[in-house]
Amino acid sequence: MIFLNGEWMPIEQARVPVLDRGFIFGDGVYEFIPVYQRKPFRAVPHLARLARSLDSIGIPNPYSDAQWADILKTIIAKQSFDDQGVYFQVTRGVAPRDHAFPRNPQPTVFMMSNPLVTPSAAQYANGVACVTAVDNRWTRCDIKSISLLGNVLMRQLAAEHDAVETVMFRDGYLSEASSSNVFIVKDGVIAAPVKDNLMLHGITLDAVIDLARSSSMPLELRPITASEVWNADELWLSSSSKEVVAITKLDGRAVGAAAHLGKPGPVFAKMHAAFAAAKVASAQAQA
Ligand SMILES: Cc1ncc(COP(=O)(O)O)c(C=O)c1O
Repeated sequence: MIFLNGEWMPIEQARVPVLDRGFIFGDGVYEFIPVYQRKPFRAVPHLARLARSLDSIGIPNPYSDAQWADILKTIIAKQSFDDQGVYFQVTRGVAPRDHAFPRNPQPTVFMMSNPLVTPSAAQYANGVACVTAVDNRWTRCDIKSISLLGNVLMRQLAAEHDAVETVMFRDGYLSEASSSNVFIVKDGVIAAPVKDNLMLHGITLDAVIDLARSSSMPLELRPITASEVWNADELWLSSSSKEVVAITKLDGRAVGAAAHLGKPGPVFAKMHAAFAAAKVASAQAQA
């Protein structure tokens, strides 16, 4: 069952008018929350980011955090599977086509939950291939906008090269990947770009930062040059569906320090274990 504007229905019955501004302009935002064993992982920061995204484009938040949490709980309970990926989308609603905002917008609210698809055991064990490109997207990548054409084209580039992601550089600096954040590791120090308007402030990125700090793993948030990426000992992707996975091939070249060239490194192994423990702890804390 899916949720559409206050009602529950099978997805086949869900209908949205063609004048919805999400369809016409991509005028809306979305969120995606991973659910392990029927317990959402980091729901509070995800809902806070949804509120920020709505606020940054001037769509009134249709629900309080408590109401969102309630709908989230209900949609999880309505599914037959335990590990889920809950997708939320809010658009500026239906109005005659005009770029400027309608006067009294009635946001369209859609939520669905699908089985959570995470990387395979082989991908965690061996890492994944990525390609690189110049980041040609707009400069409000911090808004989780449904206008994803730039990200779609980047992800397609990866797909055409049998890669899982495209790692992007803007003005010679690492920004992110088409639907993931990117970390480097050099000499045992984990680094990620400073959270600014040129990248999505990933909830998984924050989870990794928190885990690094609580596990006394050195971590820096700072601008990262393309050459640092190319010379890193390890590269990682993070996202709500990928969790943390190592990049072991970039533009066809093996990634990493000589001791584990083309294989996930030791810092990844430690973070992967910490992340797995955090998922279990989170589900237990909500039991
Ligand atoms: C462009 C982009 N960057 C980063 C991320 C990772 O964010 P999160 O960890 O909150 O899933 C996503 C997730 O969809 C994304 O689309």
